[in-house]
Amino acid sequence: MQTLSFRNGDQIPTLGLGTWKTDNQTIKPVIRQALKIGYRHIDCAAVYGNENGIGEALAEALTEKEVQRDELWITSKLWNNAHKANDVAPALKKSLQDLQLDYLDLYLIHWPVAVKPEVGFPQSDDDYLSLEQLPITETWQAMEACVDAGLIKHIGVSNFSVPKLQGLVKHSRIKPEVNQVELHPLLQQPEMKKYCDSEDIKLIAYAPLGSGDRPAFFLEENSPVPLELPLIKEIAIAHSATPAQVLLAWGMQRGTIVIPKSIKAERMKENLAASELKLSTEALEQIQSLDQHCRLLNGKIWKGPYNYEYLWDEKE
Ligand SMILES: NC(=O)c1ccc[n+]([C@@H]2O[C@H](COP(=O)([O-])OP(=O)(O)OC[C@H]3O[C@@H](n4cnc5c(N)ncnc54)[C@H](OP(=O)(O)O)[C@@H]3O)[C@@H](O)[C@H]2O)c1
Repeated sequence: MQTLSFRNGDQIPTLGLGTWKTDNQTIKPVIRQALKIGYRHIDCAAVYGNENGIGEALAEALTEKEVQRDELWITSKLWNNAHKANDVAPALKKSLQDLQLDYLDLYLIHWPVAVKPEVGFPQSDDDYLSLEQLPITETWQAMEACVDAGLIKHIGVSNFSVPKLQGLVKHSRIKPEVNQVELHPLLQQPEMKKYCDSEDIKLIAYAPLGSGDRPAFFLEENSPVPLELPLIKEIAIAHSATPAQVLLAWGMQRGTIVIPKSIKAERMKENLAASELKLSTEALEQIQSLDQHCRLLNGKIWKGPYNYEYLWDEKE
């Protein structure tokens, strides 16, 4: 299993399993299967509503000594309604309880979007708190305190733009070590990659296969499909690999961490085997030409102050 090193020497597997869009019942056997296949990195989030099922699978695997806790890399994420300083530790503890763990390897602020504590998923503009009302630095200090308390090994963010990351780096005691963002050949984010490399911030690529099963509210007409791109299919044939493996190998070869989601054993095996695939320099160059800065999960679900420009710090 390939890994990348954190500043303290901890190793994160460069390929993990995504768990979004899978309910508690479905996810439990999927996680058991994934661990048997060889996955050691699981990407979770409170808002996926399935940390209970994941926790049951982890507890069984650990009890049966199929894996050791220190061989696993478990990430979870703080939801938007728990950004207030006093809400961070309770939200983390709930994830730990559900996952049946006493620490997380990585905890991320899921979105730079704050909603009122009583709101689960915002329904109106009134449900939001702007970043001026509830600065990310307040949330971050509470995340740092959870590291101090031994509840988390590493902290980071998700869906942060470069300017938002820069602001956080400037005002943090513990620097963010990860930004988890959408990355695939149609959205390569070279400026983000350059900035993160310069600050030793790791990029975790979500939707590395294009998130074909994303919910309807994320779907826009005529969205391109990374797995269906003719060039990706050609490169797959030339390397005796599958299109999914090409997308994942590309992500890993450029130094990012990929977290494809599948609930099917055969695909989980296929995706994990992408770690062994080495794309040619020519293929990497060809893939670079596919970039369209096309966000498939463009954050337009957020309203209130969080329009596209405020969220991503870029024009649409
Ligand atoms: N931080 C964030 O805001 C954020 C946002 C989105 C996602 N994420 C994380 O990133 C993970 C991955 O992203 P994602 O789930 O949106 O999308 P994804 O991994 O890009 O794509 C998942 C889709 O691809 C299919 N698939 C998997 N392996 C395949 C293969 N070898 N060939 C063809 N199709 C394949 C899956 O179907 P089957 O399951 O039926 O195989 C599913 O429909 C999530 O699960 C979540 O953990 C984080």
